Amino acid sequence: MTDTSSAPIRVGMLFSETGVTSVIETSQRLGTLLAVHEINASSGIHGRELKLVNYDPQSRPASYRQLAERLVVDDGVRVILGCYMSSTRKAVLPVLERWNALLLYPTLYEGFEYSRHVVYTGAAPNQNSVQLAEFMMRSFGSRVFMVGSDYLYPYESNRIMSDLILEGGGEKVGEVYLPLDAQREDFRAVVKRIKSLQPDFIFSTVVGEGTAMLYQAYAEAGLDPARMPIASLTTSEAEVQQMGAQYAAGHITSAPYFQSIDSDVNRRLVESFHRRFGDDKVANQCWEAAYFQTHLLANAMRRVDPGDIEALLRVLPGSEFEAPQGRVRVDEHNHHTYLRPRIGRGDGKGQFEILEEARSWVRPDPYLVSHTLEDWSVRVKLQTA
Ligand code: ACM
Repeated sequence: MTDTSSAPIRVGMLFSETGVTSVIETSQRLGTLLAVHEINASSGIHGRELKLVNYDPQSRPASYRQLAERLVVDDGVRVILGCYMSSTRKAVLPVLERWNALLLYPTLYEGFEYSRHVVYTGAAPNQNSVQLAEFMMRSFGSRVFMVGSDYLYPYESNRIMSDLILEGGGEKVGEVYLPLDAQREDFRAVVKRIKSLQPDFIFSTVVGEGTAMLYQAYAEAGLDPARMPIASLTTSEAEVQQMGAQYAAGHITSAPYFQSIDSDVNRRLVESFHRRFGDDKVANQCWEAAYFQTHLLANAMRRVDPGDIEALLRVLPGSEFEAPQGRVRVDEHNHHTYLRPRIGRGDGKGQFEILEEARSWVRPDPYLVSHTLEDWSVRVKLQTA
């Protein structure tokens, strides 16, 4: 039955405004707000306003679960936009399944998951890790040291990276996990160990506030990014702004979106973002996924009864959108998104210089069923590394 009321359509939003991952999640919140503003400025969902019901889960998995339950049970919301750390997505999953709700998740993650209650709009490992492993081994060598935050995504992402490096004939020379609230001294100790082991590159799965401390400790120790850079899937423009642009110079990130993408769609959107939220704000891959997934949802809601989860689940898979990174598409079978892999290098001014990019989108393969370097063989080289 189609709902003909003119009442606003309420959608839940769970991005942390406080706690260790608040910087990146604040950017995801702003990406969502920008899209909601655009949607409502063009008549909403057939005249109905899209309205966000927003809570701050404080970067704590248990709070995500409680607030997801509050959104669904008390606020009557059935669709949630949110989550950054995989631990927070995993905390929300049982709530979605119990109440037949839907999460749109705008964050790269470790893959090896499918829930029909989730649409995954960040990169899967075959859209960032495969490309990063290949690029780093080709450009710097194949002895890697791994440092990560102490939770699910870094463990799994390192496992995948280890397999790719071993497959390429390389070697893992060390692997360390630090708590999410690790201090400067902890990062200095890790960097000291890295300095003594002299790997060809460092793979960092550190997230949140620790990211700044790792890159700063690296610079303090006098290491040289031209010879032994830090490679990451999570160090975006937001973390670079937090650490200070100079600390990211020469380090490498693999992501489907960088603010520096030179296209009309991206330029226009970044300008509009700055007009609305201030010139000091930076775009990044998680901001972009948060932005385009909100448009994907609105377009789906325009096609079917927006309150009918089963109907939304019929039309969201297979849907496409002209995103700032290029056209994206939600896969019908695994609910992950076709995205365009890119490799960027910190330019020392807060942005990434895009060194290489795939010629077209890459189909998501979250279980790495065919995780060959093939996904990347169609790359174009934009700059010399
Ligand atoms: C992450 O935890 N998926 C970054």
